[in-house]
Amino acid sequence: MAKINEDIERVFFTEEEIKEKVAELGAEISRDFEGKNPIFIGVLKGCWVFMADLMRNVSIPCSVDFMAVKSYAGTTSTGAVQIQKDLNESIEGRHIIMVEDILDTGRTLNYLEQYLSARKPASITIATLMDKPSRRQAPVAARYSCFAVPDAFVVGYGLDYNEFYRNLPYIGVLKPEIYMD
Ligand code: IMP
Ligand code: MG
Repeated sequence: MAKINEDIERVFFTEEEIKEKVAELGAEISRDFEGKNPIFIGVLKGCWVFMADLMRNVSIPCSVDFMAVKSYAGTTSTGAVQIQKDLNESIEGRHIIMVEDILDTGRTLNYLEQYLSARKPASITIATLMDKPSRRQAPVAARYSCFAVPDAFVVGYGLDYNEFYRNLPYIGVLKPEIYMD
């Protein structure tokens, strides 16, 4: 029986390292947003595992909503951001925390920040699990980031390669022959 961990060449962040960082981030956000009842907006699908863990480390009152966007095919950004699912809740006057799996070129969040600011939220803050600063093409700054990563295509803990590997409990890079298939 094939196992997904057999396709991993190198582990970047273990389950334990992720758990520790996510707990710290939840505590930090809880302090910084005390009294503000923020709304966490997850950018699907990559955010899902990270967000589920993050939220259980947030101790202040908050609500949760999701957007779904598509901008990638395989390992290459297509450039255009397509909204597949919009918010259910109004964000007018609310403090927004955008939750992303990884900030790469920045095109997705740059687009979403502009798109959502038209709805007059009180503030927009970005919390990302990972950041690839060397790849930035659009001006976006994440106030919260758990890990900085080099320019490599990573999978696991919600992140996919062609929709697979999201269920890997840690983050790593695939063997080169898998990306080439
Ligand atoms: P950006 O618009 O280039 O910043 O792309 C952000 C989105 O691309 C992320 O939310 C991910 O879904 C996807 N992405 C970027 N880098 C990676 C990666 O290394 N592995 C998996 N998905 C990635
Ligand atoms: Mg993705």
